Amino acid sequence: MKISVAGTGYVGLVTGVCLAENDHDVTCVDIESHKVALMKSGISPIYEPGLEELMNNNMDRLHFTTDYKAAYKDADVIFIGVGTPEKSDGSANLSYVYGVAEQIAASIEKDCVVVVKSTVPIGTNDKIENLIKSQLKHDVKVYVASNPEFLSQGTAVKDTLHTSRIVIGVEEEVAGERLKEVYKNFDAPIVVTNRKSAEMIKYASNDFLALKISFINEIANLCEIIGADIEDVARGMGHDSRIGNKFLNAGIGYGGSCFPKDTKALHWLANFHDYELKTVKAAIDVNENQKLKLIKKSRKYFDNLKGLNVAVLGLTFKPGTDDLREAPTLVNIPLMLEDGANVRAWDPIGIDNFKKVHPEDVTYCYSIEETLKDADVCFIFTEWDQVKHFDLANYSKLMKNPIVIDGRNCYDLESVKSATMVYDSIGRETIH
Ligand code: UGA
Repeated sequence: MKISVAGTGYVGLVTGVCLAENDHDVTCVDIESHKVALMKSGISPIYEPGLEELMNNNMDRLHFTTDYKAAYKDADVIFIGVGTPEKSDGSANLSYVYGVAEQIAASIEKDCVVVVKSTVPIGTNDKIENLIKSQLKHDVKVYVASNPEFLSQGTAVKDTLHTSRIVIGVEEEVAGERLKEVYKNFDAPIVVTNRKSAEMIKYASNDFLALKISFINEIANLCEIIGADIEDVARGMGHDSRIGNKFLNAGIGYGGSCFPKDTKALHWLANFHDYELKTVKAAIDVNENQKLKLIKKSRKYFDNLKGLNVAVLGLTFKPGTDDLREAPTLVNIPLMLEDGANVRAWDPIGIDNFKKVHPEDVTYCYSIEETLKDADVCFIFTEWDQVKHFDLANYSKLMKNPIVIDGRNCYDLESVKSATMVYDSIGRETIH
């Protein structure tokens, strides 16, 4: 089977490489020639653990090109894995997806299944099908299938090779059969639905997880007020298999390229149909507030941050990625700077991306020790292992004023008690 994949971002490239790992011949298409050149020489244009290695192991089955016509014309299956970024009104920008659909219509010369992996609003697959069929240059049959992905950044390869489920949304059986053939070596349950249900499964899954995070964050905020401990509460809840123990980590809100965008997009879609998704709206509102939690906490210790040395540990929206999209630091660091703070920031891989936004007003440090030196306060934004395993005694040794405000509950309170520091975390007692 000849497979082509449009887009070499997280979704497209990981899909292409994992299909090659499963013995398929895969051509990855991207409009950016410098990215294609990198991939041809075995370099992944995105940071994703294990991806480059897997790519290099499968170079004999992987091809990279900007020439979409050649890649699509005789493909049996074409995956669309391009981005669907958020528009200013919260809806999804589908111009890249439709752009690829037009290219497919102009190129295909044999019957083919077009598989939409990008996260698209419910009903988009129908529109893609209509668009392709109306612009076809050759007399061929096209089937459009929805096949959402469930990979997380940082564990994308593992999540794809060992996915929890394969969702196939089709209107014709033949398309479903072709996709089952593509995935025949994958050991995962296959859920076959119609296209709209498959599109909805993706949004409902992400929005449910976002809701779970916002819920636990609200419970954490209440725990702080009434003196309960969110870690114990989450542990106690998680033993109930109906609730599950995952995604119950309280913190400073969800970021990344998916949850913020997908919650807003579904909310927008519901509004468009005169329906209000109240739970999803609540998840969005809670998250906006939660992102500001650390700055609000700092007001307990300082009227403002003017003239203070502020250490920031972690810049990315989560560990294991250099991605800053919707990272809480993007709203918090400007507030610190506005206050007049001297901000010193550390991140193992996110600094280069952060420098693009703040080239000069932040001092970047290449070790945690350097960041903490003479700091008046330290904020933890990302739970990198280096932070979690940092020797707690160093905070008081290095900082002028050892106040640590931790948005990711990196330390257990018992070990903090034996260190000399003020430790203020999420949903737990503050240690003085
Ligand atoms: C998310 C989903 O987890 C994937 O299943 C989905 O395929 C993907 O979106 C997507 O739609 O492409 P991702 O955004 O990479 O994956 O990252 P997550 O690990 O889900 O984390 C998202 C945010 O939630 C992070 O900011 C993280 O810190 C936060 N989070 C996560 C919490 O605050 N608490 C938790 O318990 C879990």
